[in-house]
Amino acid sequence: MQTYTLSAPAKINLDLEIIGDRPDGYHELVMILQSVALSDRLTLRPNGLEGFRLSCAHREVPTDDTNIAYRAAELMAAQFPQHFANFGGVDIDIEKNIPVAAGLAGGSSNGAAVLVGLDLIWNLGLTKSQLRDLGARLGSDVPFCIEGGTVIATGRGERLAPITPMESVPVILAKYDNLAVSTAWAYQTYRQRFGDTYKNFAETGKPKSAHSVPLVNAIFEKDLARIAGLLHNDLEKVVLPEYPRVANLLSGLKRAGGTASMMSGSGPTVFTLCESEEQARTIIEEVRNQIQDPHLQFWLTHLSNQGITIVN
Ligand code: C5P
Repeated sequence: MQTYTLSAPAKINLDLEIIGDRPDGYHELVMILQSVALSDRLTLRPNGLEGFRLSCAHREVPTDDTNIAYRAAELMAAQFPQHFANFGGVDIDIEKNIPVAAGLAGGSSNGAAVLVGLDLIWNLGLTKSQLRDLGARLGSDVPFCIEGGTVIATGRGERLAPITPMESVPVILAKYDNLAVSTAWAYQTYRQRFGDTYKNFAETGKPKSAHSVPLVNAIFEKDLARIAGLLHNDLEKVVLPEYPRVANLLSGLKRAGGTASMMSGSGPTVFTLCESEEQARTIIEEVRNQIQDPHLQFWLTHLSNQGITIVN
């Protein structure tokens, strides 16, 4: 049986609108999700055992069943017990390059890679749609991570409609390595403070998105200046006041010329779309000078249209 190495990319949100409550306790969303080239690498090696073993050199990544990659393997074993019995488990090693607890879907992408990898190793021949359905049971971002590209996501985030991809645009990711934001906290706080704005959703059943349509048009036209004005993330309303360092970082990037800047997901990572790599390097340099904090980290990467891919 073959060993597979898979690339598991990070994502950013170009739009995140919370438009309603859902009976399952989640929120009804309209998002535009975008893959970036910064990726983790997962190696899945058949171990001939009746179980899974997870390893990762990054000290903040758990290697037990609190890791979504582990839960993805357990889900596959429960769904396909005969294949699990015939082929056995796998050792999963995660090379962590995506910052952890960052709003970049690093964990979700690892879970997605395990689903894709076990489908290959166990010869299941699952369709993308079947993989996405399994992914939705692990987390709201997992179906997108399987697919990748530039996508409008609705529902919990699992209903996907691809749009014109925005490849190769340079993007800065910036994050303090000693700061993490709980996604559940961000959504709950939003519900407490702004839930009134979407109470009608349950009665009318008509989702309202103010930002996605013009943003899709601007993306189609690859018009960075218009995209900059249309980027939108409802969670900034709760995360930025609670985490002034993130707010300060965001305004620092904008002051340095990175007008297309926003917080990704529930944060605390912020991103800036740039005209060129040269502009990106200048912005990074300027913000480093403005905010002299050894915990502040930058990544210069680019947008990508890839989901989970096989490296070898
Ligand atoms: O689906 P996932 O486990 O990634 O979601 C993490 C948390 O984010 C959930 O526990 C929930 O509190 C919140 N969430 C939400 N509505 C969504 C997606 C996530 O409230 N559509």
